[in-house]
This record gives sequence, C-alpha cells and structure tokens, in this order.
Amino acid sequence: MELHVVILAAGQGTRMKSALPKVMHQLAHKPLAQHVIDTASRLEPAKIHLVYGHQGELVKQGLSGENLSWVNQGQQLGTGHAVDQALPSIPDSAQVLVLYGDVPLTGMATLKNFIAESSGKLGILSISLPDATGYGRIVRNSAGRVQAIVEEKDANPQQKTIREINTGIMTAPAALLKSWLPELSNANAQGEYYLTDIVAMAVTDKVDIFTMEPANTYEVEGVNNRIQLAALERAYQTTKANELMVAGASLADPGRIDIRGRLETDQDVFIDVNCVFEGHVILGKNVIIGPNCVLKNCRIGDGTTLEAFSHLDGSDLGKNTAIGPFTRLRPGTELADKAKVGNFVEIKKARIGEGSKVNHLSYVGDAKVGKQVNVGAGTITCNYDGANKFVTEIGDQVFVGSNTALVAPVKLGNGATIGAGSTINRNVESDQLAISRAKQRNIDNWQRPKKS
Ligand code: UD1
Ligand code: CA
Repeated sequence: MELHVVILAAGQGTRMKSALPKVMHQLAHKPLAQHVIDTASRLEPAKIHLVYGHQGELVKQGLSGENLSWVNQGQQLGTGHAVDQALPSIPDSAQVLVLYGDVPLTGMATLKNFIAESSGKLGILSISLPDATGYGRIVRNSAGRVQAIVEEKDANPQQKTIREINTGIMTAPAALLKSWLPELSNANAQGEYYLTDIVAMAVTDKVDIFTMEPANTYEVEGVNNRIQLAALERAYQTTKANELMVAGASLADPGRIDIRGRLETDQDVFIDVNCVFEGHVILGKNVIIGPNCVLKNCRIGDGTTLEAFSHLDGSDLGKNTAIGPFTRLRPGTELADKAKVGNFVEIKKARIGEGSKVNHLSYVGDAKVGKQVNVGAGTITCNYDGANKFVTEIGDQVFVGSNTALVAPVKLGNGATIGAGSTINRNVESDQLAISRAKQRNIDNWQRPKKS
C-alpha cells in the first residue's frame, strides 16, 4: 500500500521565544523539521505533505530544497483539522502516517515496525511515562482494549492517573481518515478539532487499533522550549557517540563530542574531548584527534595526528600527517603523506607535498608546494593584490628561510634556497640561492638617546 506522510508543523512555538519558527530551530546543525523529513524520506513514501501555518514563509524558505507537498493551514484549529487539510491530495487507497515537525528523533526501526503492524488499522504510537501531565491519555477498557484518547484538559481525575500517553504519531488508512475527520467536533476544553477523537470513532466503527511503544523515550519527545531542545541534542549526541564506539573508535569522553553531520571512523581512532564534527568527515585508521578540534568536511588519512585546537575545513589529508596545535586549514587544502603543519599556520587552497613542513606562524594560500620542502617560520604567500589572487609554486626540496614574503605569481625551482627575511617577487631557478634583504651595517660606539 502506498504511504503518504503528513508532517504537522503549523503550530506557533511561543515558548521558544524566537523570531525563527520552532521547526526551523536546529538540532545537530539541522532544522527539526529537516530531521523529520529525512526520516520520512527513508520510509520511501509516495509523498510527504508538510502542514504549515505560523511563519509559514520562513518554513518554506528554510526547506525550499525539499520535494514536499505544501499544505497551508491558515488557522490552527487543531491536529485533526491540520491532517484534514492534507487529505484532498492523498488517494483513498493510501496509508497515512502522521508525524510532528517538532519531534525530530523518531527511529527508523520504530516507524517501519509501526507502519507494518498497523496496516489496515488505526495505529497509535504510545508510551508510558512516570509523569504523563499535559499529554493525551490512552483510555483502555477492562479487557485492555483502547477505547479513546482523552486530552489532559478534558480528562477527569481518574483518567489523569493514566500514564500511557499518545505520542501524537498515528497511522490510518486514508479512506478511514476521510470518513472520520469531517465528523470531528470542537466541543471540548480547547475548542479544537482533535485528531485524537478518531480513536473513539474507530472503536464505534469496529476498526482494529494497534498500539506500540518505541524503544527509547527520546524518539517521541517533542520540542516546546529551548531546554527540551538542548536535552534532545544531548540524546542525539549520545546515540552518535555510542555508534562511534561500537564501530571501533575511542572517545575520551562520550559526553563531550558533537557530531553535526556524518562522521565516519576507521579502526582505532581516538578522539579527545570537546571536538566538533560538521558536514561529512572521514577519519582513517589510527587517527588521533586532540582536544578542542573542529573538523568540517574533511578526509583525514591513516595515522594522522591532530594536536589541540586545530580547525580544519574542506581539507584532504594524506597518511601520517601531523597537524597543530593551533593550525587552521581552510577549504582546498591538500596535504600529501607525512606533511607537517604546525602552530599558528593558516593554509588555504594549497597542496603541500609529501614530507614537507610548514611548522610555525605562516600563511600559505593559492600555492603548490613540492616534496621535502621546509617553509620557515613566518613565511607568507602574498597571494592577493587587493583585486586578484595569484599562485605561488614551490618545487621539491626547497628551503624557505624564516620571515619570507613570496609575492605571487612566483615560482621557486627544485632545490632553491631563500635567505631569511627576503621579499621574493621574481622566479628563482633550481638550486639558486635568493636573498633580498638589505645588507647589515654595524656602527661602532653607538650612543643611545637619553631621557631629557
Ligand atoms: C497533541 C495530542 C496529544 C499528545 C501530544 C503529544 C491532539 C489533540 N493531542 O497534543 O494527545 O499527547 O500531542 O505531544 O492531537 N499542529 C498543527 N496545526 C494545528 C494544531 C497543531 O499543525 O492546528 C501541530 C503543532 O505544530 C505540533 C503538533 O501539531 O507540531 C501537536 O500540536 P500541539 O498543539 O502541540 O498538541 P498537544 O496539545 O501537545
Ligand atoms: Ca505538544
């Protein structure tokens, strides 16, 4: 049966106290609604319908890349009304799954199981909580059969003692929803059309009801305020940290790592505390990441060590390279095997050859650096004239003395040597020494100025 997913995201989210719509707040660098869409997509539905309302334009903008059917709910008259808005574009033969845009971490296994078991039935994903305050309660008869869902505000004192609650995630055949939803009434404590009232209708119509609980509570937790958002962020990071350790990586402290994208680790990787991974990062065998490093869209070759406080973005590192502490590698950096980049060095759009070293306080941008090169402390590639950028080419086995300015475009041939403190703006041929600093003068018996 073809699946249609309806994501409810029209509510206001007042308690976020934000100019941003609630579902656009980020968890692990991704909007809450995006998490739900990504999960829904993995179920391979025929269509995902997103019900929007409050700040709808911002939601639409934020998710513009998605192939969604956008359903405008002009007035938020309740969850039943919200689902009803999507029904006209769903065929009768479909099965409908209702998800909430502010419940980001529902697991794939849970949903697959839920949908499969609910086929042709009304499915309710429920959970038993120690404190059920605020939720719709699942009311069962003495035989244990579900009779209704009663919202907190409509519940009598006895119903309020029920701890089994409605998570909000439901599934039903579209044909049944089409018969039930127009019959909903808003004669209740909140004056809303409750989706949950279809449960009593299913009982009347003798439609089978399937209930199931997820393996983890966080899978059905929603975000209403920033405290809950932070709590779910931690739940998410804990699952990611556990996955890494199961895959063979060691973490100095699984409570102090943040993965905001996809991190792949090969065997025996070690990650020290407070590291942040963004985008797609791949760490090879035996890679060691020191404390407080940030890596975004990088591939790090086997045996490489990053020392503390290194910041890498869009960089591709070979095997057994050594980085940091305090290194900044910007997009387009490529390091060949055994290259070394040390403290307070910035590299951008440059390839550093095998075994070459840029150990201290340098800027290398728009450059090609050969093998076994030594770039001395304080070397700067002057790649920018204020309007255009130019390339610096450095051959193999070049030795660049400290505090050298290489004014691009410029080429240093294989084996060239540059004297410390030089400003080089003409090409240097292979095996030449280039030195451009002013000659030193020594003056005898120099009298220093005295204070008057
Ligand atoms: C709902 C359920 C309750 C359940 C709880 C779980 C109903 C009547 N109640 O209550 O049984 O225990 O969720 O969190 O369904 N929304 C719209 N349009 C609307 C109203 C809501 O899109 O007109 C969206 C909201 O943005 C939100 C979701 O639906 O994502 C749930 O709405 P909310 O008002 O939070 O429902 P609850 O009162 O929490
Ligand atoms: Ca809610």
